[in-house]
Amino acid sequence: MSNKIEKNKVFYQKQFDWYKDCYLENESVMKAACDSISDRILSFANFDVDSILEIGSGMGFQAMSFSKKGYLVEAVEIVGELCDFASKRSEEQGLNVNFINDDFLKHQFDKKYDVIYYLDGFGVGSDSDQKSFIRKMGELLSDRGFIYLEVYNPLYWSKTAGVTMQIYGDISREYGYDLNENRMIDSWKNDSTGDVKTQSLGCYTLNQIEKMCKDNGLKISEIIPGGKMNYETMELIENATLEDCMSYFVIIKK
Ligand SMILES: C[S@@+](CC[C@H](N)C(=O)[O-])C[C@H]1O[C@@H](n2cnc3c(N)ncnc32)[C@H](O)[C@@H]1O
Repeated sequence: MSNKIEKNKVFYQKQFDWYKDCYLENESVMKAACDSISDRILSFANFDVDSILEIGSGMGFQAMSFSKKGYLVEAVEIVGELCDFASKRSEEQGLNVNFINDDFLKHQFDKKYDVIYYLDGFGVGSDSDQKSFIRKMGELLSDRGFIYLEVYNPLYWSKTAGVTMQIYGDISREYGYDLNENRMIDSWKNDSTGDVKTQSLGCYTLNQIEKMCKDNGLKISEIIPGGKMNYETMELIENATLEDCMSYFVIIKK
């Protein structure tokens, strides 16, 4: 596992510890948001989707949303605690998601998928890891299928460095940006213990993602800009341009 993925894994373990109660308190809102993301992803399929793979499923709400709609879903998640939580929750709700606790880049899959998706910042590893992610996703994609990726926009995150906010209870957050490596830096601090944990996520221009796809025989068929935050009012402005959005979504096909 690369150094960057290893470091981020430590962040996600701690984030789960610090933040899971907040997620659970807001579970119904989370579920509604996931249902609308499921509908959005499925709107790009002009065929009957057989199988779906989520990479980096966190607490598993998104994969569970697809399962609730009757789809066959597998999800790979590197953090054991997150995977255990998601498996238990899925079972409790009578759902049937296969949560796999492994590194996506190492796991041996034995089938192909119609939809493969990665949400919330495609950039957990080094640039070379991200190229491997794309290559492997392409290998696992059925001929008619598509990949749905959420990519962080470097223009947005380089301007957002320095923003701070209170997250939940004693946990606060500060954004930064590494201009040399084009990575957004997201530091969470437990104000009562002083413990700080940081994730860094690679940010990519559309041209860079297009090249990664092309190098692996894949092409982008749709580009959808996401929203942007007003940090003064903490409101999400849903419609932003490709230049000023926080992240954009791409549909990738063979
Ligand atoms: C930014 S979080 C997103 C979590 C969830 N998808 C969401 O949107 O809330 C990224 C997730 O990917 C997982 N992850 C990172 N690298 C991974 C890898 N190589 N294989 C599998 N999961 C990975 C992390 O542990 C984390 O839960």
